[in-house]
Amino acid sequence: MTPNPAPPLLHATGITMRFGGLTAVRAVDLTVHPDEILGLIGPNGAGKTTLFNCLTGLYTPDEGTITYAGKPLPTRPHLVTRIGIARTFQNIRLFPNMTVLENVLVGRHTRTHEGLLSALLRTPAHHRAEHTSRQHATELLEFTGLTRKSDHLARNLPYGEQRKLEIARALASEPGLLLLDEPTAGMNPQETRATEHLVHAIRARGTAVLVIEHDMRFIFNLCDRVAVLVQGQKLTEGTPTTVQADPRVIAAYLGTPEEDPR
Ligand SMILES: Nc1ncnc2c1ncn2[C@@H]1O[C@H](COP(=O)(O)OP(=O)(O)O)[C@@H](O)[C@H]1O
Ligand SMILES: [Mg+2]
Repeated sequence: MTPNPAPPLLHATGITMRFGGLTAVRAVDLTVHPDEILGLIGPNGAGKTTLFNCLTGLYTPDEGTITYAGKPLPTRPHLVTRIGIARTFQNIRLFPNMTVLENVLVGRHTRTHEGLLSALLRTPAHHRAEHTSRQHATELLEFTGLTRKSDHLARNLPYGEQRKLEIARALASEPGLLLLDEPTAGMNPQETRATEHLVHAIRARGTAVLVIEHDMRFIFNLCDRVAVLVQGQKLTEGTPTTVQADPRVIAAYLGTPEEDPR
């Protein structure tokens, strides 16, 4: 290994993932740099979510290597969260009968290292840890604009706010890299713009972002670089300007307007 003072944050090479006879992701290389916002686009079924699942320990790819901050990616999702990668899901996964604040506190869990015994005995260390967690969760609700909804049950939030809450919960683990799978799906244009600001603010806190989205305007406004996945393979990647002008991208993706609901 050559000593490199600033290695890529996430480095995936040759990722292949098969389901039976279907190769959902084929030999994909992907690099996310610290402080970067990288977009991942491609038609439905291109393999975007499958790639996310490989990058978060949900799937073990059939081939390829993944490193995070120079170290091999752990093979279990909770260990991946612990080393600093957090995600949201294309299909929202919240605890519907818990409050907004409680959902964020659950996300915080990976960061509190106190033992079960300490929690059961309600030791001073436990109280201190709980206090810090609450403070942090409250700050994240403020950051995502959900303070007023803190005591509401998650299931009673409008759809756009549920997506925000998923982001707040993911941030609770204090990730170095946040993966967002279609964060603006089902949002109105105002909510989408607010999400754009939120992602910029997340990056300003020092968290890199890898984002899947169908909304082209959102992606091209937001991202430093965009990678295009088509039929499991990376077609190209580059700045939004380059990718938008690439005739292969237009043919494969932008040229099929029925793929893009907006
Ligand atoms: N768990 C799975 N088992 C079998 N096939 C899957 C599974 N997950 C995804 N696929 C298939 O892999 C391909 C890529 O899917 P996906 O990663 O969800 O695409 P995208 O997120 O780009 O729309 C699709 O053909 C899909 O049907
Ligand atoms: Mg998907």
